[in-house]
Amino acid sequence: MKNYTTLILAGLVIILAAALVGVLTYVRNQPVEVRAVEPLVEIAPMEPDSSVWGVNFPNQYDSFVKTKTNNVDTTYGGSSMFSWLERDPRQVILFAGNPFSKDYNDDRGHANALQDVRETKRLNLNLDDPKRTPGTCYSCKSSDNPGLWERLGMEAYDKMSFVELGKQVTEPIGCANCHEAETMRLIVTNPALEEAFERQGKDWATFTRQEMRTVVCANCHVEYYFKGDGKYLTFPWDNGTKVEEMISYYEEEGFKDWNYPETDTPMLKAQHPEYEFFTAGSTHYNAGVSCADCHMPYVRDGASKYSSHDVHSPLLNPEQACGQCHTDTDYVIKRVNLIQQQVADTKIDTEDAIIDAINAIKTAVTAGNADPALLDEARKLHREAQFMWDFISAENSTGFHNPEYALEVLAKSANLARQAQMLAAQAAGDTSLLATGTYYPAEVNTP
Ligand code: HEC
Ligand code: HEC
Ligand code: HEC
Ligand code: HEC
Repeated sequence: MKNYTTLILAGLVIILAAALVGVLTYVRNQPVEVRAVEPLVEIAPMEPDSSVWGVNFPNQYDSFVKTKTNNVDTTYGGSSMFSWLERDPRQVILFAGNPFSKDYNDDRGHANALQDVRETKRLNLNLDDPKRTPGTCYSCKSSDNPGLWERLGMEAYDKMSFVELGKQVTEPIGCANCHEAETMRLIVTNPALEEAFERQGKDWATFTRQEMRTVVCANCHVEYYFKGDGKYLTFPWDNGTKVEEMISYYEEEGFKDWNYPETDTPMLKAQHPEYEFFTAGSTHYNAGVSCADCHMPYVRDGASKYSSHDVHSPLLNPEQACGQCHTDTDYVIKRVNLIQQQVADTKIDTEDAIIDAINAIKTAVTAGNADPALLDEARKLHREAQFMWDFISAENSTGFHNPEYALEVLAKSANLARQAQMLAAQAAGDTSLLATGTYYPAEVNTP
């Protein structure tokens, strides 16, 4: 009798163990997103409120919420809103006549996007002013956008003023900017990105999952401009996404962001071209590494593994961000430090060259008797030089995303700026305009 009981018990234990192994194997083979429990709430398509998604995906939501309060700085980046104009006063000169010369802060975490766009002093909220800030400025700041674009269409959205549209915008960046609610797959949500791909003959729906881990960031981390009176959000990619190709596009469109005071140069302001810069043949992009690999590494919470949605500088968590691929994280972080220092120093030298060009053109214009054709040629070179510098400067990695390209573009920029300066001197017939180092504010330590 006792033997039978033991046998039955042992049999039961074996059956239960086998069943458990079966279940665990099944669960392990499921994609990450369905490994957890069944969805607890139904998420409406394009649901703007991230906390609703958070009921089903607490790990992703909790890590996302941390972007609100992260405030740690690194040598060149990090999550505080330090002022670029204070850190680098040359930029006050370079952006003279543009709102960026009044207020230009470093970026911080995604959950702050809405608050920060509303508080920047670059806004013009005067509805009577034809140059008032357009609604288009909300395009990268809110998870309300996918729903608004669906309901209004992007054309009507962009035609509204910032004030008008703002009444319908309450959420900062959130889940709906990157995910399709029903499937949780990564999607292109910004119509301007979809249209830019279409004009290049590309269909993002055919991209691989690994490619989407980069493309989803291109919804926002790109160069863009507002096309025409309707301020239609447009990516200048028709000729390609290299910096020269974007300049040639703007040339063909005859586009300018503003006129530089006194030199009267039609200028371009670069935005935050992380996607274009990274994909321009960088070592990591060519090796198939994605933005999410470094900025949203997998982390563990007990038994579950998820992508950290606490997106910030990878220098704050190199073991997670780089350690999955590099065994010697100390070594690669030292490389980052060196690359960033080289790029930051070269950037300042380039700024000096552009400011020398600006001062030479200004003096030549004021002189009144300069050769107009040569002056125009000088202005064209100033425009190109400054956009190239800005392409590297406004890109937020201080060169790391593509170090060789950063130094190449800065070298070209400095060369064009020096040519602009020489042309201005020639136009005015005044060799004193060849002077270098014409701008060294007292508060900056100069070479
Ligand atoms: C190989 C790793 C890696 C990849 C891939 C990568 N980044 Fe970065 N990213 C970095 C590092 C390192 C920095 C520098 C951070 C610093 O200076 O504190 C950085 C900086 C940034 C910053 C500024 C962060 C700050 O602290 O202000 C942004 C924004 C950014 N990356 C976006 C992107 C986007 C978008 C992509 C894809 C197009 C991308 N990154 C791809 C490693 C990476
Ligand atoms: C900036 C874009 C972005 C935002 C915003 C975003 N995600 Fe993600 N999410 C990603 C990326 C990239 C992945 C990795 C996807 C992959 O590897 O296929 C991911 C993966 C996931 C996954 C799959 C499991 C995992 O952790 O890898 C879930 C679930 C998820 N996100 C939920 C959310 C929720 C909930 C929110 C809002 C609180 C959110 N996401 C906001 C980009 C985003
Ligand atoms: C819907 C638009 C949008 C998408 C999509 C988006 N970002 Fe951002 N990102 C922003 C904005 C806007 C900011 C600046 C917010 C601020 O300063 O208030 C930002 C800031 C950042 C920062 C700086 C954070 C810090 O702490 O300094 C990093 C890093 C970053 N994004 C990386 C990424 C990566 C990687 C992806 C893709 C997985 C991505 N972003 C997708 C709009 C977006
Ligand atoms: C998903 C994998 C992956 C991640 C994550 C990753 N790297 Fe890399 N990294 C690579 C590959 C692959 C190479 C190219 C190696 C080669 O060709 O020998 C590389 C090369 C490098 C190089 C040498 C670059 C060159 O041009 O020779 C540096 C420096 C570097 N990585 C730094 C970092 C840092 C810092 C991080 C974290 C912020 C990081 N990587 C994250 C895969 C990765």
